[in-house]
Amino acid sequence: MEKFRWCFIGTGNLAATVASQLRKSGRHEIVSCYTRNYVKGKAFAEKYGGTAYDTPEKAITAEGVEGVYIVTPHNAHYRYAELSLKLGKPVFCEKAFTVTAKETDELISIARDKKLFLCEAMWTWFSPSANMAKKWIDEGRIGKIHSADFRYHIRTVGHKGRHTDPKRAGGALLDITVYPITYAYRLWGKPELIESKAKIKDGIDLCEDIVFTYSDGLKVNISASINDSIGLEKMLIRGEKGVIKAPFFHAMNGLTLKKGLFIKETFKGDGPRINSYIDEFDSVAKDIRSGKTESSMVPLKATKAVMELLDIIRDQIGLNYNNLE
Ligand SMILES: NC(=O)c1ccc[n+]([C@@H]2O[C@H](COP(=O)([O-])OP(=O)(O)OC[C@H]3O[C@@H](n4cnc5c(N)ncnc54)[C@H](OP(=O)(O)O)[C@@H]3O)[C@@H](O)[C@H]2O)c1
Repeated sequence: MEKFRWCFIGTGNLAATVASQLRKSGRHEIVSCYTRNYVKGKAFAEKYGGTAYDTPEKAITAEGVEGVYIVTPHNAHYRYAELSLKLGKPVFCEKAFTVTAKETDELISIARDKKLFLCEAMWTWFSPSANMAKKWIDEGRIGKIHSADFRYHIRTVGHKGRHTDPKRAGGALLDITVYPITYAYRLWGKPELIESKAKIKDGIDLCEDIVFTYSDGLKVNISASINDSIGLEKMLIRGEKGVIKAPFFHAMNGLTLKKGLFIKETFKGDGPRINSYIDEFDSVAKDIRSGKTESSMVPLKATKAVMELLDIIRDQIGLNYNNLE
């Protein structure tokens, strides 16, 4: 198969990780990129291929571009996704998809009008492990689920950059809390009740605790922090007959199913998947080339629903994104 040709908007940390994996795969190439600092864009292009442009329009419409990957801070996702769609290009945009559900609605409506592909780059939807957890639950392997805990604690406070910058929609919610919310939505849909509390400082949410309650009594506890490196990341789903556990649930990592003392099954996928972005890029390239306007893995309905949940949580914790650049 001919290599799939990407335009990258944003050439920061994740862009570099993804670019090197795409190159290594031999199935993708970067033909153009744009970032506000042209010198940085040029250095990125020299390292990973393609041409750096001094305007996003030139990068998006560069010869051969088949899809635009948006990998800027959250505040700029909408702007470049809208521009790319208006210029007639399919869009694969990092999580959190936009800052508000309203922006997501608008992008979906533009994509539908123009019959163009639009998809959130939320790798949890593409993860073989997350898919296996869903299969085990749907098959009733651990019986009726009564509770689940998701914990995602890291420390990005103290690092300079987008994570703590209110102007770039920094904070825990859009950066990391979006993962357990997506995971829970994917398994159980929208909850009946949402209760959230958070610590907000200097315009960003440092951490939050959220409880989702479902109509059948299922409780999902979510704890996320960008100001704590203790406890890291873990998931525990408890059912009547057993539990499912994963240490790094949001990444392409393995998981374990346990029943009583002796029954234990582990799933590792088909290789060392942690921090691998290849599944999602392969899937999206295939969908775009086959003329789809929606991903076969990430329904736009789900992206919209997750953004609506984030809006509700943001209102509950009193967070606003009024000073975006
Ligand atoms: N799926 C995952 O596992 C994962 C992991 C990490 C990050 N992410 C997501 O990926 C995105 C980027 O994160 P990152 O860590 O790579 O951020 P980063 O290192 O800060 O890089 C952001 C890039 O976007 C550029 N940029 C910033 N504002 C821009 C604007 N208005 N217009 C054009 N370019 C702009 C920056 O360069 P200039 O400032 O020079 O323009 C930089 O090249 C975020 O949405 C984040 O949530 C996902």
